[in-house]
Amino acid sequence: MNKIAILTSGGDAPGMNPAIRAVARTAIFYNIEVVGVRYGFKGLIEKDFFDMKRSSVADIIQKGGTVLFSARCEEFRTREGREKAYQNMREEGIDALVVIGGDGSLHGVQKINQESEISAVGIPATIDNDLSCTDYTIGVDTAMNTILDAINKIRDTATSHERTFVIECMGRDSGYLALMTGLAGGAEFILVPEIDFTPQEVTNRIVQGFNKGKLHSLILIAEGVKAPFVDLTGYNGSPGLAMGDLIREKTGMETRVTILGHLQRGGSPTAIDRIIASRMGAKAVDLLIEGHRDIMINYKDNSIGSCKIADAIVEKQQIDMDIYNLSSILSM
Ligand code: F6P
Repeated sequence: MNKIAILTSGGDAPGMNPAIRAVARTAIFYNIEVVGVRYGFKGLIEKDFFDMKRSSVADIIQKGGTVLFSARCEEFRTREGREKAYQNMREEGIDALVVIGGDGSLHGVQKINQESEISAVGIPATIDNDLSCTDYTIGVDTAMNTILDAINKIRDTATSHERTFVIECMGRDSGYLALMTGLAGGAEFILVPEIDFTPQEVTNRIVQGFNKGKLHSLILIAEGVKAPFVDLTGYNGSPGLAMGDLIREKTGMETRVTILGHLQRGGSPTAIDRIIASRMGAKAVDLLIEGHRDIMINYKDNSIGSCKIADAIVEKQQIDMDIYNLSSILSM
């Protein structure tokens, strides 16, 4: 292997930069040339390439976002677009590619391995932590800490006014972020797409809590929650806003809604995100050198390994019911 290209794709995640740094510096350590690709798969099609040196990744380990930029690319979904990308890589002498991103990015990795001679591997990076075959995706720890910081602050004001707060967090179709931060933040109720609930259960819990002397009620809701559990008509897709109105209407309690939005995606990566990103980046290069392709680097049972891309994208990670039940017991 002579030349490795690196790109980041899909939603950015804190820790992408330490992963880029690890791939680049490990490859250079083994005398392999490194090419940076800007704007994800779009950059492959538009040949937005640049040579990377050790110094190209200096001073990025602490930065959120991705220095390679990211994009969602419709053209790469077409065979014609992908052929352009393969041709550009061939012309540049690129024989391996490391893609850092989430579910959509891994589908791209699979296509490249199926349709070309280029060896592509994926590194899971998304705040959603919604991939199979890995306990962890880069960025989720930073996002959880950001959400937790927000919950702590909202708790202060909620207690001062004895109010109910609905906090909506990201996660696409996955409830992982809401579940984990709900447990860590001591939420009264956690609403996730994977677990059925009735609005009545939520309002009952809120009323019971105040009757027992609680000074506030915090409801964590994942953005992926939808009908039949919450009617989103007129709420621009926000289950948090819908739930806030419903609670107000059914309980008459003062209720506020906070949609955390994209602030969950930014920020300097935590130590955990930096450590796992560094280890995954290095592992990707090691496995490419050993001749592997069509794999995703993973983190399972405290160790860094790999799995087939097909296994990683076949189904979403399941919600941990023990954690959901624990949170429920602890917040009663
Ligand atoms: O996949 C990461 C994520 O932040 C999801 O949690 C969220 O639903 C989505 O991306 C938002 O995408 P965009 O930045 O394109 O609005």
